[in-house]
Formats: sequence, structure tokens, C-alpha cells
Amino acid sequence: MVKKRACVFISGKGSNLKSIINHSRDYNFPINVSFVISNNENAKGVYFAKKFSIPHKIIKERKDKFEKIAIKELRDRKIDLICLAGFMKILSKYFIRNFNGKIINIHPSLLPKYKGLNTFQRAVEERNEWTGCTVHHVDEKIDNGKIITKKRVKIKSGENIKKLKKKVQTEEYKAYSIAIRKLYAYN
Ligand code: GRF
Repeated sequence: MVKKRACVFISGKGSNLKSIINHSRDYNFPINVSFVISNNENAKGVYFAKKFSIPHKIIKERKDKFEKIAIKELRDRKIDLICLAGFMKILSKYFIRNFNGKIINIHPSLLPKYKGLNTFQRAVEERNEWTGCTVHHVDEKIDNGKIITKKRVKIKSGENIKKLKKKVQTEEYKAYSIAIRKLYAYN
């Protein structure tokens, strides 16, 4: 199997990046992490790119300039798939059209519920019984594209937000790898 070339976009901790890298070491996993882009020079996740000798670039430039630099890198490196993993920057319609159908994201809620920020707090405050995470295609609206996979986590009564977040993150690692496998399952 010829593996697809993925680029992971991060802004922070990078635990999803780490998990995707670990999965990609399986010869059966459909992608290799070929490149990492961070818009934040202090992102802890950059450490994982270094640790696994994955080429990476920190692009501190703002919107248009960021995207111009990123698009050139992605084209030069023949990237097939962009995985957003804790990437805290909104991509323009122009960028998304350039990589139509090739950008996926992980969001910490059961979409279409709780798009945007503070998803755990909102789920707890509104007394939801379940929350979780969703991997979805990225389209021009925020947290809106076609859903690839979801994982559910039960909310206990009096649940602590930090603990809940941790439980959901564990499910995120599974969800992201399932979603990537699913994308290429019939190719
Ligand atoms: C994850 O919870 C993800 O759902 C959200 O940002 C967080 C990133 O965590 N989009 P990490 O940087 O992968 O540890």
C-alpha cells in the first residue's frame, strides 16, 4: 500500500498529533505524517515533530501570509490530506477551496451540537447525558462539514470539566485514527 502524505496543523499541546504519528507507524495505516505546521512557536506539539524527525514549519504570519506560505509548502510536499488537530486559526474560504475535500478536523463535542468553543462547559451546564468528539470534513462554515466519525462519553452527575475533557481526549485519539482509516477504506 502506498501511504498518503498527511500534514497535521497544530497550535498547542499536540496530543492528537502524537497519537496520529503513533498510528501511522503501523504499515497498514493509510497515511504517513509527512509534515507538521504550527501557527504558534510555543506549541508544545512541535516537540513531537522533532522527536519523530518529521519536517515541520512554524508560520507566525497572519491570515493571508500564513496561508500563502502554507499552501506553497503543502503543494511542494505533495500533501494529500490536512489534519487539523487543535489548530486555533480559522482558515479562509480560499484556502479550503484549494484543498477541497482534503481537510479534516477533530472537534470536542457531538456535532452538530456545540460548535465553537467551551463545548464541555456547555454540555455540562445544559445537563446533557452524553458528550464526545467528532471528526469531520472541513467546509467553509465553522465545525460544519460532513461527519466522518463520532465517539461518545457519558457525563456523570456533578462531572468535573477537567476530568471530562481528559476522558473525551482519550476517545479523540481513537476517533481520529478510525476516521483516517475510513477515509481511505475503499481506495
Ligand atoms: C482537542 O481537544 C480537539 O478536540 C480540539 O483541540 C484539542 C487539541 O488537543 N480541536 P491536542 O493539541 O491535540 O492535545
